[in-house]
Amino acid sequence: MIAPLRFGLVGTGIGHSLSPRLHEKAFELSGITGSYALLDCADASAALAVFAQLRLGDLDGLNVTTPFKALALQTADAWLRPASHRSGVFTHPANTLFMQEDRLVGSSTDGHGLAAALRSAQVDLAGKRVLLLGAGGAGQAIAAELLAAGAAQLRVTNRTPAPAHALVDRLNAVWPHHAHAHDWGEARGLADMDVIVHATLLGHGQVLPDTVAAQLDWLPWQAWAARPPLLADLVYAPELTPVQALARAHGLPVDDRLAQAPIAGTRIQQDNLQIVGIIQYFGQAMLAHQAAGAFELWTGVAVDAQRMLAAILPGATSNT
Ligand SMILES: NC(=O)c1ccc[n+]([C@@H]2O[C@H](COP(=O)([O-])OP(=O)(O)OC[C@H]3O[C@@H](n4cnc5c(N)ncnc54)[C@H](OP(=O)(O)O)[C@@H]3O)[C@@H](O)[C@H]2O)c1
Repeated sequence: MIAPLRFGLVGTGIGHSLSPRLHEKAFELSGITGSYALLDCADASAALAVFAQLRLGDLDGLNVTTPFKALALQTADAWLRPASHRSGVFTHPANTLFMQEDRLVGSSTDGHGLAAALRSAQVDLAGKRVLLLGAGGAGQAIAAELLAAGAAQLRVTNRTPAPAHALVDRLNAVWPHHAHAHDWGEARGLADMDVIVHATLLGHGQVLPDTVAAQLDWLPWQAWAARPPLLADLVYAPELTPVQALARAHGLPVDDRLAQAPIAGTRIQQDNLQIVGIIQYFGQAMLAHQAAGAFELWTGVAVDAQRMLAAILPGATSNT
């Protein structure tokens, strides 16, 4: 008999995570027996102790979230390049760890999750001007996907400038002149963006909506209300995230149709979905797809991410 597999999530303040529900669904869909634990770590040494359990065979796979993704990459013996990344320069903080023979392998499924969530929302990035807010672990993982999906221009802004500049340099080595570092707090040049991707910690966990509003009041909300860009927030919350709520308060429309097809157990038909404004449940969709990617790396079994998504959406029932 095959022993049950043991997976988990390493991070700080992860009590709210939806990952256990997603992986419970993945176990059910795949017929694989196993468990998925939240492994809250206060500091790097605690996280390293959990990573070591992979080498000992006490765990079979780990997801890694803020603030330990860079540590996961440093600890890994090898980097598995996500298939969609065109160049080796895109080694970046890891959200997935597992053993391959006797090597600890790090990879990232965040880019896959983003690309799949954009596809499920039928967002076509070809020729679009995209603003990426945040160049942390997730921002670094998804930036190349945005250009690989055909974005004509990618502006990257980060509270601390250096990571945005470093990321832009790496992107331009593959897509010359496509990426630009943009000063955090500078609204000029952003009014005509087609797509906004939010990938900072604002709205995540304990960050209060008032703080989010104060930190993002410099964005050109008035111009965006007049000509709404698509807003994809990586953060997920049960309903509207604080960033989505802020955008709605500034007059951007909310589109919740990304949630309808998984709940109904159907596929969204082409031409059926012209999302405008805030893509509600985008963070959940990305989370489900990155989780399915990690599950496949750990087990070799592909699971239906849409059905996993249905398990975490409001209105989910046990037989979705
Ligand atoms: N839905 C999904 O599947 C998914 C997947 C991955 C991540 N995420 C979400 O994406 C977000 C970023 O995750 P991550 O892995 O990139 O985390 P991370 O590596 O810890 O990076 C944090 C990012 O947030 C920025 N930041 C933190 N506090 C800020 C503030 N007060 N004002 C402005 N910027 C601030 C940081 O800027 P500095 O460099 O200046 O510190 C950095 O860009 C999180 O909210 C996470 O939940 C979602």
